[in-house]
Amino acid sequence: MKEIIVYGNSVLSKMLYLDARNNDDFRIACFAADKQYLRGDSFLGLPQIDFDSAAELYPPSKYDMIAVLGGYSDMRNREKYYLKAKDKGYNLRNYIGSNVDINSMVQMGDNNIIFGPSHIGFDGAMGYNNIIRQNVYLGHNFNIGNNVFIGAGSNIGGYGVIGDTSYIGLGSTIINNIKVEKESLIGAGSVVINDTQPFSKNVGNPAHIIGYHTEEGIKMK
Ligand SMILES: CC(C)(COP(=O)(O)OP(=O)(O)OC[C@H]1O[C@@H](n2cnc3c(N)ncnc32)[C@H](O)[C@@H]1OP(=O)(O)O)[C@@H](O)C(=O)NCCC(=O)NCCS
Repeated sequence: MKEIIVYGNSVLSKMLYLDARNNDDFRIACFAADKQYLRGDSFLGLPQIDFDSAAELYPPSKYDMIAVLGGYSDMRNREKYYLKAKDKGYNLRNYIGSNVDINSMVQMGDNNIIFGPSHIGFDGAMGYNNIIRQNVYLGHNFNIGNNVFIGAGSNIGGYGVIGDTSYIGLGSTIINNIKVEKESLIGAGSVVINDTQPFSKNVGNPAHIIGYHTEEGIKMK
């Protein structure tokens, strides 16, 4: 199994590093960051390199990569960073925490991160570059797109559909058979009982729309 370059040096990268210490299949070689975000030449005791030098110092023939750039301040950036890593020729790895309850009937693209403890239901599918935080219950037969963020402690009932680049806030509940349309934002602790509209911001119990972000996308403070 190849060692891995973590593209990112944020809180989420640190979370991944700490979690992966329990995971023998996921050995981190170094961290990479865009030049303007580099802070010294090491991070968490490992080398920290300029992303533009990665292919030379840690070539794709010998190393895999995982992009851990949350992009919460601009969710649409998640796709950009993912493609930037992929365009360098790296195989992008998934990270599944050792205490995630998941079975082989789940289909998955690349560059997904699932922190445990979480339960991922059977017969589900997810695309690429999704982040699922700790203590998430994701029901069976789910269909998650790409670049989605699911906050810690969220519960999503069976047959849930989550559209691309959606942000599910901390501790949300989405009942079964709901379609969360692309680029939906669900506020923390909301209870979603109806399908959402694309680009909508939804809060409360039951969740209701308080606005749209069609032009600018989701930008979290
Ligand atoms: C929804 C959210 C993004 C705020 O969006 P916003 O456009 O800045 O909204 P505002 O703070 O201006 O609030 C607008 C209204 O929605 C209400 N509201 C905001 N968030 C809410 C929530 N999560 N649940 C219920 N009501 C909420 C406010 O009370 C306010 O109501 P009012 O108009 O009656 O006063 C934010 O509150 C939120 O829930 N963020 C998620 C954070 C999170 O989960 N982080 C995960 C980190 S791991």
